[in-house]
Amino acid sequence: MLTTVFRTALLGLTLSIAAGPGAFAQDGDPAEGKKVFRKCQACHTVQDGKHRQGPSLYGVIGRKAGTAEGFKRYSDAMKAYGVVWDESGIDAYLENPKQAIPGNKMIFVGLKKPEDRANVIAYLKQAAE
Ligand code: HEC
Repeated sequence: MLTTVFRTALLGLTLSIAAGPGAFAQDGDPAEGKKVFRKCQACHTVQDGKHRQGPSLYGVIGRKAGTAEGFKRYSDAMKAYGVVWDESGIDAYLENPKQAIPGNKMIFVGLKKPEDRANVIAYLKQAAE
């Protein structure tokens, strides 16, 4: 009996070490996210300073909304939004851009699947490293 408890505990420990820090369920897969990013590519790049119709998304996590250097076409709504982008903020924006920031200029229906959003956010994170 004791041995079983011990083994189970040991197995749990081994698994959490193998998964590494921060690897919990809602973490996305950057490789899958790269595929999702095809939907964004018409308007965004992940290269520093390279803007298209939309601003470069290089380093967007941790950046204040509406402040990509050199991007001149932000809407007043985005400039006024004033929030520093984190994962949950981008998640909410991508789920329904129009509703999250009324009046913003991103003409995109949104990503309905939570895993698509988690994956593309993981890709954005990785692309900034
Ligand atoms: C049709 C073009 C278009 C598509 C497709 C598009 N975007 Fe955008 N995106 C924009 C524009 C334009 C803005 C700036 C909006 C504004 O200023 O109101 C923007 C803004 C953003 C911002 C805020 C950037 C900042 O500097 O504050 C994020 C994050 C973002 N988009 C992510 C994405 C992701 C991820 C996808 C794909 C899932 C995507 N967008 C698809 C055009 C697009």
